Amino acid sequence: MSVRPEIQIACEKFAQLLEEQWQRAAAIKSQGAFTDYQSLNPLIIGFCGGDGIGPIIMGETRRILGRLLAGQLAAGEIEFRDINGLTIENRLLTGKAIPDDTLAELRACPVILKGPTRTPQKGDAGPNIESANVAMRRELDLFANLRPTRVPELGIDWVFFRENTEGAYAVGSKGFAVSPDLAVDFTLVTDEGCRRIIRAAFDYAVKNRKTQVTAVTKANVIKTTDGKFLEIFHEIGGEYPDITCTERYVDIMTANLIDERVRAGFQVVVLPNLYGDIITDEAAQIQGGVGTAGSANIGKKYAMFEAIHGSGDRMVAQGRAIYANPASLLRAAAMLLSHIGRREAADRLNRALDICLLEEKRHMVTGDQKGVTCQVFGDYVLSVLERLA
Ligand code: IPM
Ligand code: MG
Repeated sequence: MSVRPEIQIACEKFAQLLEEQWQRAAAIKSQGAFTDYQSLNPLIIGFCGGDGIGPIIMGETRRILGRLLAGQLAAGEIEFRDINGLTIENRLLTGKAIPDDTLAELRACPVILKGPTRTPQKGDAGPNIESANVAMRRELDLFANLRPTRVPELGIDWVFFRENTEGAYAVGSKGFAVSPDLAVDFTLVTDEGCRRIIRAAFDYAVKNRKTQVTAVTKANVIKTTDGKFLEIFHEIGGEYPDITCTERYVDIMTANLIDERVRAGFQVVVLPNLYGDIITDEAAQIQGGVGTAGSANIGKKYAMFEAIHGSGDRMVAQGRAIYANPASLLRAAAMLLSHIGRREAADRLNRALDICLLEEKRHMVTGDQKGVTCQVFGDYVLSVLERLA
């Protein structure tokens, strides 16, 4: 049978994608151990404000982190470094998701705090470049996306381990139209890619005295890649006899999360990339909205912490940027502190945020003139932190 020319071209593109992924699979297999932050002196923390409301919420978060780490900064054990190039203007100008010089600056920072960045969509003016988030996760191999959700009064205490570099995202911007009538995207997993995220979830469960890990897939339909993820989940789960392994398909999981009788039972959840993206927004909404949730993107060599919401362009256009809520970036900052071994400072920041946002609520940010500005909220958090010292 003769192969249509369009299919021949598609096969060549597919071969190229597979070769790149083959090489990535080999590279992640040969990676060393996790960075030991205690051994770095100074430990450099990079700050990228990002776009829209990003620089405003970052300003307050950086100020508060500066206060919590004042001793280490003064002693030169920690250094704060500002990275200014990760803006939509700069990205459009260079036509790159992360401009080369900015990527080099990022690579000099083992720990990064990042504000939201804008992703151009099909139809926007300028090149339709890839999301900076997705590019950074790939370039720095930040394979574990940790997204906690906590609503104490509802008995909710979930930690999601979203795989962050594979699935539908690995070559998400490399799908193509084979012909005007046929378009394809690809989803993929690698053996080590599944193992490392699943192991991270189980290790977290053991360390934090959790008793259950749930895998979320659609392995009844997406049989090869989700099937492999699930198979490895049960294989690795067998090495942790004190942890119960449960599984859900992603459709019923979305329903379970709004079923009060069922949802309190979830503890640690591990999921492929796209399901993790969707389920963690749902979870954040149950907690009070995406503006309340922080997120950690962890790799062997680098770790990046971010808010899970977008850059609030509508707020900026309507002149409401100064009323932006820094809560989710502050929660991300608490995760950063915990990740670099500053557990006491992390607990203190989380405690102060609980007091400001859930208990005392003396100054609330609502995103408009009805609430306080980001800066007034920052002052409030600092004053509560002082009280807790
Ligand atoms: C997230 C975001 C990103 C994602 C977008 C901005 C590309 O939704 O961090 O969850 O899909 O991962
Ligand atoms: Mg998302």
